Order: sequence, then structure tokens, then C-alpha cells
Amino acid sequence: MIESFDTSTPATRAWVLHPELKADRHKRRGASHALEEAVSLGDALPGLDMVGADVVPLPKVNPGLLFGTGKIEELRRKFEDHEVDLVLIDGPVTPVQQRNLEKRWKVKILDRTGLILEIFSDRARTREGVLQVEMAALSYQRTRLVRAWTHLERQRGGLGFVGGPGETQIEADRRAIDEAVTKLRRQLSKVVKTRELHRAARKKIPYPVVALVGYTNAGKSTLFNRMTGASVTAEDMLFATLDPTMRAVELPGGLKVILSDTVGFISDLPTQLVAAFRATLEEVLDADLIVHVRDISHPESEEQSKDVHDILTEMGVDEAARRLEVWNKLDRLDDAAKSARATTAEREPDIIALSALTGEGMEALFDTITDALDPPRLQERLVLGHAQGRARAWLFEQDVVTDESQTEDGVILTVSWTERQKARFSKL
Ligand code: GTP
Repeated sequence: MIESFDTSTPATRAWVLHPELKADRHKRRGASHALEEAVSLGDALPGLDMVGADVVPLPKVNPGLLFGTGKIEELRRKFEDHEVDLVLIDGPVTPVQQRNLEKRWKVKILDRTGLILEIFSDRARTREGVLQVEMAALSYQRTRLVRAWTHLERQRGGLGFVGGPGETQIEADRRAIDEAVTKLRRQLSKVVKTRELHRAARKKIPYPVVALVGYTNAGKSTLFNRMTGASVTAEDMLFATLDPTMRAVELPGGLKVILSDTVGFISDLPTQLVAAFRATLEEVLDADLIVHVRDISHPESEEQSKDVHDILTEMGVDEAARRLEVWNKLDRLDDAAKSARATTAEREPDIIALSALTGEGMEALFDTITDALDPPRLQERLVLGHAQGRARAWLFEQDVVTDESQTEDGVILTVSWTERQKARFSKL
């Protein structure tokens, strides 16, 4: 699919470079964390042996070569010493830079978008996932065509019935790609229709859907496994799950739910890949409960959490849809940090601190999910004045009114509602 190297040959020796642009230095993500994430990305691709990684400070981008010539020579020696076959550059690399660096280093180069595409294509499981990744790969290729050949664009010439007169090679290539994209779009819309049917069928299952979302490596699959007792692979790899995995489970309290694992979020997702990623997240839109799994031991846990919130909001996940937050990997904190986290979590009804690895804190999670989906109800009597028509309408909308009688001053309502509904009502 994309301009590719062969990952089926065992142990391609790979080296990761994270170019640290001066302009990026104020960025919240530290270069060393970015490098670490890039190495995990590489690990996620089968057949790669990650032999080394460097942050390369980049005072200014060299248009033809990306790096300065001194740096290139230094790296060349390093790659030679370590018999590197493939260099992953964690950032955008123009086709010209790619070609030049490949020549100088005698290695294959993959940039960040190319790498993530390879991973997505390796992990795509549903028909839709595969099609979305193909679309993303084509659009990636198309941009590379443009940039690669603009300066050596050549007229195809000849008889002129292949393309219009004066058509350039690049336009023909571009058109071939556009045609492929149109075809993919058609297939995709068929797949989406089928999926909607599946979804409608699933709606008939009387179980609420609980979706696990979260940053890559937060521990979603580990938690999923602990919750289902099933053996879905939990690997220390990014994107162990590209398409949502669904499982019907009975929680210890007896409540039956459908548990859905989703693909992990990733920082700085290249724009061409956003649609492919979102397609994998669509299930979340239907969920009755969203469980946001966080690696609370990660130094950038707060920033990651903000990313997840932003994407969910952008996707139009209803703000009112119930969300729980799991503070995972509690076992990795020292005693002081651990008890501070646990105390905060205890005070917040929607936060559960636990360790998916050791199982500590799982009962609290099961109880909170059960409460959220099947909450205890309180019976109460409310007296509403004539002016409170909107409040009355809201109660009926929520379907909590069990009895109503008129008085001179207004109405008396008997309601059966949850603590949560009661709290929302008092805010009206
Ligand atoms: P993606 O599929 O990339 O989105 O990752 P994920 O969120 O599904 O993470 P996964 O469950 O694969 O866990 C990532 C790594 O974290 C694995 O090495 C797990 O063993 C480890 N891990 C998960 N939960 C815990 C935990 O509670 N404590 C510790 N110490 N490690 C954990």
C-alpha cells in the first residue's frame, strides 16, 4: 500500500530520531517523552528490532536534507556501526529529504505519518477500518506526489489521448489516486450502511454499552481483560486494538453490560489519519457509559487527559453522557503519591483509582458502573408553583413522575428518581 519496506523479514534493525525544532521547545510535550512514544510506536510494528533512539536538536530545518551536514555524517557513522536498516523519523519528512537521506545513510526512512499508517494497516480488523486506512494512505501518497515531483514535473507529451494535451505525469498519477479514493468512498458508504444495521440489531440487546477509551498504553486492554476474564491480547504495544472489541459480560453485582475496548489515543496524530482513527471510535457515540482510562503514573497524564476530552467533545460525544474516570496503574506510585491519589478519588464519585495489573480497586469500579447504569431510586414529593412549568416538563421528560395532583397554587408531584437526576433538577 504505502511506499513500504518489508516488515515480514525478521528483525529489521531500526533507529528512531526525534527532531527537536527550536520552535517546538515551548511545546508542552518534552522531547524525551516524544521520543519514548515514538519508540513504542516502532515496537508496535511486528518485525522491527529497535536498536537505538536519539533526540536531534534542530536549530533550523535544512530544506533538502532536514538535518545539518555535520549531524548527518555523525549519524551515518552511528547507523553503520549499528547496522541499521531503517530510520524512523518522528516528524514530517519531505520526499526530497527522504530520498537524499536514504542515499547518504543507505537506509530506508519512514516518517511519523508513514509509521502510524503501517501500524493502522497492520491492526485494522474490520472492513471499515481497512478501507479508512487505505484512504488515509492514498491521501498521504497524493501529498507526497505533489511535493516530490513539482520541481521535476515533466510533460508526458505523445499523442495526447491518454490524458489531455499538456497533461503532466503528476496529474495523471494524481488522477489515478483520486479514482481509487472515489472507489474506496463508495465501498466505505456500503460498509457504513451494513454497520448501521448491525448497530440497530445490537440496540435490541437489552444491555447497556460501556466503552473504554483512553490514551495509548493507559491500560485499556489490561482492564478489559480483567473485567471480562477473557484473553484479549494485552501487549505493551501501541494500538493493540484498532477496531473496537466488544464483549458481553456480567458484572459481579449481576448487571449485564456490553464492554467495548477502543483504539488508543495518540498525541499529534497526523491530520490525514484523524478520520481513520475516528472511524474506530464511533462505537463510543452509542455508549451508555464512557470509562476514560488514564495512566496516572505517566508524567504527562494531565495533558493526555485533556487530549482525550478535547477529541470526545469534538466528536460530539454528548456532554451529558455519563463518564467515569479510571486512574490506572496505582501500583506504580510511591506510597505518598498513592494515598494522595486514592484520597482524591474517594471524594470524587466519578473517579476510581485502581490497578488493572494487580486488581486492587476493581470492586469500586464494578460498584460505580452498576450505580451509574442501574442507580438506586428515591421516592419524593415535590410541590411546584404555576410558574415552574419548565421544571415540571423536565421531570416528565426524564420519566420520573409517578403521580401528580393539582392544588390551588400549582401541582404536587410524586417522583422516583436517582441522586443524579435530583442534583440536576436542583440546578434547573
Ligand atoms: P493501546 O492498545 O495501545 O491503546 O494500549 P492499552 O491502553 O490497551 O494498554 P495495555 O492494556 O496494552 O497496557 C499497556 C502496558 O501497561 C502493558 O505493559 C500493561 O501490562 C501495563 N499496565 C496496564 N495496567 C497496568 C497497571 O495497573 N499497573 C502497571 N504497573 N502496569 C499496567
